Amino acid sequence: MNHGTIERNGSLLLVLSLLVVAIGGLVEIAPLFYLENTIEKVKGVRPYSPLELMGQNIYKREGCNLCHSQMIRPFKDEVERYGHYSLAAESMYDHPFLWGSKRTGPDLARVGGRYSDEWHREHMKAPRNLVPESVMPGYPFLMQPLKVHDIQAHLKVNKLLGVPYTKDQIDNAAVDLVSQANPDSDGAEDVEARYPKALVRDFDGKPETLTEMDALIAYLQVLGTMVDFSTYDAKANLR
Ligand code: HEC
Repeated sequence: MNHGTIERNGSLLLVLSLLVVAIGGLVEIAPLFYLENTIEKVKGVRPYSPLELMGQNIYKREGCNLCHSQMIRPFKDEVERYGHYSLAAESMYDHPFLWGSKRTGPDLARVGGRYSDEWHREHMKAPRNLVPESVMPGYPFLMQPLKVHDIQAHLKVNKLLGVPYTKDQIDNAAVDLVSQANPDSDGAEDVEARYPKALVRDFDGKPETLTEMDALIAYLQVLGTMVDFSTYDAKANLR
């Protein structure tokens, strides 16, 4: 068949163009599903602890991602303001990812450790008490008790999606969830062992109750802190 025929026949041209584009697409995309290193492995990145995971669920439920992104782009102004640009590995256990596309408020990818728990608590209850010009809504109701009954199922579903939770982590999810917000509990040390560098403390200032605020602050305080950038070498990760 010569070129003239194809170019004079609109439908045929369309079908053949689609075919060519489809092949191109397949060649580019299909290998990504089989390559093991689509996302580079980076030291320090671990699955979320049960309490952090519950915090992330609240973050999603309240739609925090509609006003806050979680992706620092590799531009000078962003890196100077927020810290090292985000690595793909840092959100590899987020389902779905929470990169976001709108910044009514600042990026939160590295907010972990930037403020005290108390600051977060007060800010979350009434943002304008701390930042008078803030347009962020208050979330005082987060001081309500955290519903914990389905935490094991949450870990299992995440495992189905590829998060490498161990049997040990799944079996102990309910205990770990409570222990992380209670440093005096018997399980506190186990949380640190199962989730390296997990912060174990009373996040909401109300030691007697496990609240949604505990979970949300535990999550915010771990954001962007898993990778140690004083030892991270970007070039070593480029194979
Ligand atoms: C209507 C948009 C909006 C929503 C929804 C929103 N925020 Fe904000 N947020 C802001 C704005 C604007 C600021 C900057 C002013 C301030 O600090 O209050 C901010 C600031 C913050 C900060 C301080 C960040 C920094 O680096 O100074 C944190 C932490 C935060 N928000 C967490 C949350 C969480 C968690 C939620 C969901 C429960 C949430 N925000 C929902 C608009 C929003």
